[in-house]
Amino acid sequence: MPTSHELSNLSALIMAAGKGTRMKSALPKVLHRIAGEPLVGHVLATLERLEIPRSIVIVGHGAEQVRAALPESVQTVEQREQLGTAHAVMQAEEALSGFTGDVLILSGDVPLLSEETIRKMVETHRSAQAALTVLTFSPEDAARYGRIVRDAHGRLARIVEYKDASEAERAIGEVNAGVYLADWPRLSEALKGIGNANAQGEYYLPDAVTALLAAGHGVAAYCTDDPIEVAGVNTRLELVELAEAYQRRTARRFLEAGVTVESPTTTWIGPRVVIGEDTVVEGGVQLYGRTRIGSLCRIGAHSQLTDTVLADEVVILQSVLTDSSIGRRTQVGPFAHLRNGAEIGEQCRIGNFVEIKGSVFGDGAKASHLSYIGDATLGAKVNIGAGTITCNYDGERKHRTVIGARSFIGSNSTLVAPLSVGSDAFTAAGSTITEDVPDGALALGRARQALKLGWVLQRKGIPQ
Ligand code: UD1
Ligand code: MG
Repeated sequence: MPTSHELSNLSALIMAAGKGTRMKSALPKVLHRIAGEPLVGHVLATLERLEIPRSIVIVGHGAEQVRAALPESVQTVEQREQLGTAHAVMQAEEALSGFTGDVLILSGDVPLLSEETIRKMVETHRSAQAALTVLTFSPEDAARYGRIVRDAHGRLARIVEYKDASEAERAIGEVNAGVYLADWPRLSEALKGIGNANAQGEYYLPDAVTALLAAGHGVAAYCTDDPIEVAGVNTRLELVELAEAYQRRTARRFLEAGVTVESPTTTWIGPRVVIGEDTVVEGGVQLYGRTRIGSLCRIGAHSQLTDTVLADEVVILQSVLTDSSIGRRTQVGPFAHLRNGAEIGEQCRIGNFVEIKGSVFGDGAKASHLSYIGDATLGAKVNIGAGTITCNYDGERKHRTVIGARSFIGSNSTLVAPLSVGSDAFTAAGSTITEDVPDGALALGRARQALKLGWVLQRKGIPQ
């Protein structure tokens, strides 16, 4: 198997310009999601794991939307008119000018192609010293795929599109998966000679097979026996069918790696998610984006984590966390919402109905019930009483609240930012705090209680 080093002179081209008419959607097809990740993101995640240094996405339909959904590291080229797959690849001429390595050509709507198959294709391609290697498979129903025509010696001779095929050719069971590996200088030369005199009036990339053979170059085919890997998404039905297959596979991969996925059919784990050993993922959980979870954690039922990092031994119960990080042995939830850079230290406690946004919690800090903490920095062991609200927004701008170590914020405190509360300070329950509180001080910001003895009896006219 080729090592990452041997894949380091590959570039990847991902065709994603097609419309996807059968999705019946305003959203470009490659942006429909499986496990929180757009289809094209699944392809990119596979390329990332293979450490292929460069990926170029060919965009067309919904180009702006597709571009906006891609990571910045990914280059795009635009195919303004969709004149066929060969024409799509030719749009990368300029981006790849001077590139002399191999180019891996994939489709943005084929999300489950495995790293292993790509490695095996590379192996076949290199040992055959081919100019082009085509991935093939033999599905139960060859449907409208391009047929693989082999010569008398069993060698790849030609690919014929279904619409152009004779009856005899349509009877061939082996088909083109639409994944290719090619020596870029030779392929780009061959593409120049490809015409569009065919049933669809398109420039077909599969015609590169005959063009390269005619120019005296070698071609090869690598056959996979897993039809799911090469399945494309054309309809919403196919989207959910592939999603189910993805879900089974992903759960299996984590189960084998020592992670308990209690309910594989209700759990969604994105392709970039990492989970440590002995972590338990309960039913209905969604783990998306670049979420990284340590060992011995418990992700309680129906939690959703996106781009969130958990250390070891963290417990999350029915909570939603986005762009956040949680330290060792901290407990979150039930029903907490952490977002936009919530950084929670070790052994903290974030309880029910607590929302935390863009805030830092020192080790051992607690907000156990019913609070909004926004744009705040809390030292170690700060205790936020129930109902505390940071008033971080004055209608125009956001302001910070800083609270020193071990301070105690009484229940129902209203902290009007910008505000600084020192260390070991105390705010009385029900206070509205608008002025800074020094270290060790008690701040009271509420009306004094008045007592009217006998008032009720008097009102009811009962003699006292
Ligand atoms: C293609 C192959 C066929 C193969 C099948 C596998 C051709 C001519 N035929 O057929 O042999 O069996 O894939 O799925 O290539 N695209 C562009 N620009 C274009 C046209 C297509 O970017 O101008 C993209 C599409 O978005 C899609 C991919 O290329 O991601 C394949 O195009 P599609 O039209 O689906 O090809 P098929 O007709 O399925
Ligand atoms: Mg087509």
